[in-house]
Amino acid sequence: MTTWKRWLAATALAPAALAAQAQGQEAQTRVAAASCAACHGTQGASLGGIPAIAGVDQRQLLEKLLAYKKGELPATVMHQHAKGYSDAELAQLADFFSRQKR
Ligand code: HEC
Repeated sequence: MTTWKRWLAATALAPAALAAQAQGQEAQTRVAAASCAACHGTQGASLGGIPAIAGVDQRQLLEKLLAYKKGELPATVMHQHAKGYSDAELAQLADFFSRQKR
């Protein structure tokens, strides 16, 4: 392949590759979010005594998740749960739930 053809192929495919990556990220976050659904409901609209997390500001959710992870926020279960995720994963989960309808 000539250089310009290679360049053309690379630039033409880049947006598609980025979109696929973003989609893969969203799918991964959905899988992680499914483990939260057991307690917080499928879309984060919890029932019973468990706080609802759907449609809550992303920063607010992330602050709590990070505080649980560090053991700074008293919790019955969330301190354990939050430890299973990297800070980046918690940020993605907070973003995901902030986008769900209450
Ligand atoms: C075993 C049940 C359970 C699971 C699974 C669970 N949570 Fe929780 N979550 C709770 C409970 C109970 C609380 C209240 C704090 C506590 O007692 O731990 C809570 C609190 C929270 C809060 C703070 C809400 C607020 O307004 O104070 C956030 C954010 C949260 N959970 C996010 C998540 C995410 C994200 C996941 C998945 C990675 C998850 N939770 C999985 C039970 C659960």
